[in-house]
Amino acid sequence: MIVPREELKQLMKNKFMAAGLHEDHAEDMAEVLTWSSERGLHSHGEVRVEYYTERISKGGTTIDPEWTWKQTGPCSGILDGDNGCGYPFAIMGMKKAIELAKENGIGFVGVANVGHTGAISYYTEMAAKEGMIGFSCTQSDPMVIPYGGAEPFYGTNPIAIAAPTADGRIVSFDMATTVQAWGKILDAKSAGRSIPEGWAVDEDGLPVTDPHKVNALVAIAGAKGYGLMMMVDILSGVLLGVPAGKHVSSMYHDLSEGRRLGHLNIAINPEFFCGDKQFREAMSVVLDELNAVKPGVGFDKVYWPGERAQLRIQATKDAGGIEIVDDIYDYLVSDDLYRNSWDHKNRFAE
Ligand code: NAI
Repeated sequence: MIVPREELKQLMKNKFMAAGLHEDHAEDMAEVLTWSSERGLHSHGEVRVEYYTERISKGGTTIDPEWTWKQTGPCSGILDGDNGCGYPFAIMGMKKAIELAKENGIGFVGVANVGHTGAISYYTEMAAKEGMIGFSCTQSDPMVIPYGGAEPFYGTNPIAIAAPTADGRIVSFDMATTVQAWGKILDAKSAGRSIPEGWAVDEDGLPVTDPHKVNALVAIAGAKGYGLMMMVDILSGVLLGVPAGKHVSSMYHDLSEGRRLGHLNIAINPEFFCGDKQFREAMSVVLDELNAVKPGVGFDKVYWPGERAQLRIQATKDAGGIEIVDDIYDYLVSDDLYRNSWDHKNRFAE
């Protein structure tokens, strides 16, 4: 069913507040989730509400975090979120990075001891809206083999970069460092389909096509993606002094405990490099030139990263709201805090 944007956001916010979150954090959570859903990223939208609500109500999210901000140099700082919700602290961290970059050209802000941060291009696009290049990366729970291994070690550790143009467009690249999300394997399981070779491995580290035999996911592009995934963990985990690698907490292990995740936000001010005007104008030219590239067979055009998300937002507006499944709407309008439990499940929420 189609739900108007603001109604969906309000319903999500109500749930978080019913679970005990204060209004400011509930607002940030609902806004980022709605932002994801309206661009078709439902895996990071309304489907997550029930899980977050269960975690909040079971004490695994600090409701009144005693957060601290420490500026550690002219361009750097650490925001410790005391295991509060990831979204508000990732937002606050990017605001701090932007402030530092306005003053000194670059802002490098670690966000430590927080919960899940969702679709991380929300934060990089905050920087782009301020005329800066935004970079974010974040830790997620171990479910991916290191290249050549047979056991999960790293998470799907995403990386995002966004940059502004002279004409209001924002190029926004945001990807998990795995070939596929776990959700796609779940879809195949429930539909009784096999999965393509190269998505996942079994207990011996061998490629599998039977979704029931999946023991771990694999990184994009073999050893190169594995390296990228590790660098994300170094930048957003080891560097910030939070648990790293295979010690990163599982999303579903124990919902009464804080996750202690790390997340990194960087803002880069073009004014301190080639200059703001030149940067934006050159970016506009690059995007136009990409769109003008002759499409390959089977493709309608060359899109720049983030362009298709803009088209999906427009389609959402044209449709009068965001399309969500009926069951989720029923849950959102009900008095239930959560209906299905994710507590004490394995890394694949089973
Ligand atoms: P994806 O595979 O849908 O897209 C990856 C990138 O490729 C995007 O920037 C997209 O704009 C670009 N792209 C895709 N098709 C394109 C085309 N035809 N032309 C030009 N560009 C194209 O993204 P993925 O890897 O599935 O990640 C989804 C989301 O999950 C991201 O927002 C990510 O931040 C989030 N995530 C969050 C995690 C967390 O723990 N916080 C963990 C893993 C992922």
